[in-house]
This record gives sequence, structure tokens and C-alpha cells, in this order.
Amino acid sequence: MSRKPKTNKKHLPSHLAIIMDGNGRWAKKKGYVRSIGHKNGVDALREITTACAEIGIKFLTVYAFSTENWNRPKSEVKALMTLLVSSLKKELKTLMKNDVRLSAIGDISLLPAKCRRELLEVMDMTKDNQRMVLSLALSYSSRVEMVQCMKKIGQKLLENQISISDIDEALVRNNLFTFGMPDPDLLIRTGGEQRVSNYLLWQIAYCELYFSEKLWPEFTREDLMIALEDFEQRERRFGKTSEQIAQEEETLP
Ligand code: FPP
Repeated sequence: MSRKPKTNKKHLPSHLAIIMDGNGRWAKKKGYVRSIGHKNGVDALREITTACAEIGIKFLTVYAFSTENWNRPKSEVKALMTLLVSSLKKELKTLMKNDVRLSAIGDISLLPAKCRRELLEVMDMTKDNQRMVLSLALSYSSRVEMVQCMKKIGQKLLENQISISDIDEALVRNNLFTFGMPDPDLLIRTGGEQRVSNYLLWQIAYCELYFSEKLWPEFTREDLMIALEDFEQRERRFGKTSEQIAQEEETLP
């Protein structure tokens, strides 16, 4: 049963990032093949996306397929790509109903043509939705993202569009896949492992980390609320002192 979120809007993350881990273990525990775990993972993603849109989170970015995942057994990669196509088709209605814009980060040129086509089509159909941006990290690697960013900046230098002194954090930010998005405030990883697995490494510099023992298919709206309540208790200092933060909060309108 879901309960009313206690989350105070002032401390709600603007950008929530999730590593949806544990689909395979969930399936094994239940005696199913791994692909059934991914299928149930899509159900969990629908529930969490809807909850995030309802409570006012503006950006939700989920790790759906890493560059390293291409090395999984061929049959699992194929099952995941098939699931991506069928889910995109099926979820369009929910995305429209919740006013959610679909976006993607990663090297989507590596996706099978059918997946890419379906993805671009749903991205286009939802492009005017305003309530929240759901970004799927697909064929994503943070290190590849950074290398691509360096190449783009190098190219601009070579073409004399910029000089060395123009290279700053804003320029790097604007040449990452996530340009235009705020950095994540909270990263949730399910499945009991405590690592960041090449996910949004530049962007999570000041992000709060939350690790859940729950396997992704069993992660519910209630678990999300518990994570958000935990986030609400944290003091984010961004290198400042507690006293400075308290003073800044007092002067907030
Ligand atoms: C990690 O679990 C999960 C993935 C590699 C895929 C995540 C994908 C989904 C939740 C569904 C697909 C999403 C879309 C948008 C179609 P794992 O397989 O590594 O689990 P394990 O650690 O228990 O083996």
C-alpha cells in the first residue's frame, strides 16, 4: 500500500538519478529467466516515474543499459533491446498522461535501428510535455561521455572557435550528454551494491548517495518516499560550514 509522501518541496531533489540494479537476482530468486527480471523492472520503472512526476521531481535519469552491458550474453542483450522497443510503444500513453518528456543519454547510434527509431519517435511525440523529463541512459558510459566532451572541446580549439581560457566548468557541462539539466541531487542505487558503476561521474560531484537493499523489481513508491525522507534529513554543504548553510536558509524567502 502506498502512503502520502511527507516530502517537503523545499528539499525535494530537482534531479533524481537511479541505478536500477538487481533484475537478474530477482528473477533467479523467483526461479525465472533473467529477462523476466528486466520485464518486471519496467513495471517498477513505471511506478517510480509516475510517483516522481506526481510529487514534483523535474528530472529523473535512469541507468537502463550501460556500454559495458553490450558484453552480456547475446540472448540477454537481444531480450533487453526487444523489451526496450515494446516498452516504448506501451508506455507512450502513460508518458502523455503524466506529461513526461522522454529523453536519452548515451551513444544511441549503437542501438539496433528499430530501437533507435522507436526511441526517437517517442522522444519526438513527448517533446512538448512539461512536468518532468525522464532520461534513459542507454549505451551509456560516463568515461565515454567525458572523452566525447574533450573531443568536442578540442575540435572547437582547433577551429579557433574558442581559446584555452574559455575552457571552464560551464563549457564542460554544456558538452556532456546532460547539457541543459541540473546535476543530480540524489542518486539511488538498488540491489545492495555500493558503487557508482561509471554513471554520471562528473554530474554527481555533490550528489547525495542512497543505497537500497531492495532488488529493482521490488522497489516501490513507498521505498522511494523513504529514500526522499532520508535525503530531506541530509545537510548539503557544498564545501561550506553548517553555520553558513543555516544562515543562508534563514535568508531564504
Ligand atoms: C541491472 O540489473 C539492470 C539492467 C542492466 C537493466 C535495467 C533495465 C530495466 C529496469 C528495464 C529495461 C528498461 C527499459 C527502458 C526497457 P542486473 O541484470 O544487473 O541485475 P543483477 O545485478 O541482479 O544481475
